[in-house]
Parts: sequence; C-alpha cells; structure tokens
Amino acid sequence: MIFLNCIEVKGLSKKYGNFQALQDVSLEIKSGDFLAILGPNGAGKSTLMKIISTLLKGYNGRVEICGYDIEKDTKKVREKIGIVPENFLLYDKLSAWENMVFFGGLYHLPRKVLFERAERFLKSVEMWDWRDKKVKTFSFGMKQRVNIARAFMNDPDIILLDEPTASLDVKSALAIKNLLKEINARGKTVVFTTHILTEVEEMANKVAILNFGHLVAFGTLEDLSKNITDKTLTVEVEDHLQDDLFAQNDLRVQKIGQKIVFNYTTTQELDRIINLIAQSNLSLKSINSSNGDFNRLFLKLIDKGRDKN
Ligand SMILES: Nc1ncnc2c1ncn2[C@@H]1O[C@H](COP(=O)(O)OP(=O)(O)O)[C@@H](O)[C@H]1O
Ligand SMILES: [Mg+2]
Repeated sequence: MIFLNCIEVKGLSKKYGNFQALQDVSLEIKSGDFLAILGPNGAGKSTLMKIISTLLKGYNGRVEICGYDIEKDTKKVREKIGIVPENFLLYDKLSAWENMVFFGGLYHLPRKVLFERAERFLKSVEMWDWRDKKVKTFSFGMKQRVNIARAFMNDPDIILLDEPTASLDVKSALAIKNLLKEINARGKTVVFTTHILTEVEEMANKVAILNFGHLVAFGTLEDLSKNITDKTLTVEVEDHLQDDLFAQNDLRVQKIGQKIVFNYTTTQELDRIINLIAQSNLSLKSINSSNGDFNRLFLKLIDKGRDKN
C-alpha cells in the first residue's frame, strides 16, 4: 500500500513538568521527502524527533507513520524507521561489525541477510576497513558513521536523524551529507534536525522551523522564501532627504544616509512603493532590489516564535 503522507504529526504538545517543550505542532511528511527540522538550541527539535522515533511518550496529540499510530502500533512503526538519536546507540566494547550484527539481530533477520547488510552499510559509510576494531577506539566522526550504518540494518523506508553532523569534522560531515542525499535519491524518506542553515539549503526539499516549541514555518524552501520573506527595494537619491519623507503612509521605510530602503512582501506593496517614488520628484542615483535570503527569513521566523511565548 502507498501512503501519501508517510509521517503525520497532529496537534503534538509535550511538557516536561511545567515546561512546554512543544506546542501544537502539526506537519505532514510525504514519502520521498528530505525534511530538515531547523531551529536554535532548545527549540524542541530533539523532543519532536524522540517522539516521532517512538523513544519518548507522555505527549498530547497524535503521530502516525505509514498509517500506523506510533503508540498503538509501535512494533510496526519500528520496522519502518531507522533511528539516529543525539547520543550514539552503540556498544563501546564491541567492534563495528559486532555492533551491526547485534543491532541487526534485534530484527530477527536470517543470518545471510544480516551479514550482507552489515557489510553493505559499513562499506557505504566507509567503515568497512575498521570493522574489527572496537568502537571505543574510534574518533567521534567514525562513531557517528557506524551509528548511522546501524540505523540502516532493518532497511527502513524512513530515516530519522537528530543533528547527524553536529560536532563532526568537515570531512566526516560531508561523507554523512552525501550518504543521506544518496539514500534519499534512492527513494528513502529522510528527516533530520539541524541548527545550521546551510545544511538545509544543501540537502532538504522541505523545512520545518521550530522555535520555543512552536512550528513557525513549514513548507518547501521555495514556498517559504517566496511567500514569507521580506523583499527590499533600495533607492539611492541625489538630494538630501527630508526626515518626514514617506512618513504619511503605512509602508515600512528606513532612511540610511542617501538611501531609502523599502521593505515589502507582496507585489501590491511594491506597486505602491513604485508609485510613491514616481510622484516624489526625487532624482534617483540607483535602484537595487533584493528578494531576501533564507538566512533573513529564518531570523524573522524565529522572532515570530518568540512573540508567541
Ligand atoms: N528531560 C527533560 N526535562 C526537562 N526539560 C527538558 C528535557 N528535555 C529537554 N528539555 C527542555 O526542553 C526544551 C527543548 O529541548 P530539546 O528538544 O532538546 O531542544 P533542541 O533539540 O531543539 O535543542 C529545552 O528548553 C530543554 O531544556
Ligand atoms: Mg537537540
């Protein structure tokens, strides 16, 4: 059966004591999506990830994965997902190979399949040559690579990763990003958390922005920058600017020296700005427009989340 929404989060709220870590979060993730859950520290990313991964209970709302309720059908859900939590899920005293076989063994796979997968996934994270070394002797980046390979042992449709590149050196981070892109290209749904904007732009097709437990934006990168970002039109003039110029309108205007910066969102606003400039008799030196970038959008949305608290 094909489920259009492979993950559905409906009205999810989570409290730790009196502290509201998630507030009414709803989102739908489609099969084949590459979703980034983006937010600053403390935004609730790990909380959301732990709940979706079936590792944290005691919440309000519902989460369904492939049509199964994660609480009622936990076993079915766990067959569909591969989990990479924020802390390594590995035994330090075992070798990389033994870890793969141990965790793969939890899925009751035939030995042949178990060994074949352990080999394939250790190779895909470039840890095959290190397979007989104990995990405790590995660098942080090597541990994370085995940790990710381990999450593939049940051949999941969906892979859930909490800050998979955090604290990694550039080379290890790149290897992991490439691996995730590759498995997404092969049809797997990938959901990961990050606080790094460039990772979102590099990898994801969709982004959910969390702040103070609120979902402040959700959609494709193009949709978000098209609809929400403030665009600016900067006009540089020859004359000295009067202080109250353009003051009698509700446009968002800033004067910086000889420059006037208009902020607008819709094309209607832009029309009004252009009319105003045309009627103002200013002699223009230059005009510059910017469509806004993702960085500014992110900062703006984070402010929005703050207002809600
Ligand atoms: N077990 C817990 N008990 C109490 N508060 C917690 C617990 N886990 C997380 N929090 C708080 O919930 C908020 C969200 O945490 P978390 O989901 O880890 O955010 P993120 O992963 O975005 O940094 C933070 O303020 C954190 O201090
Ligand atoms: Mg976290």
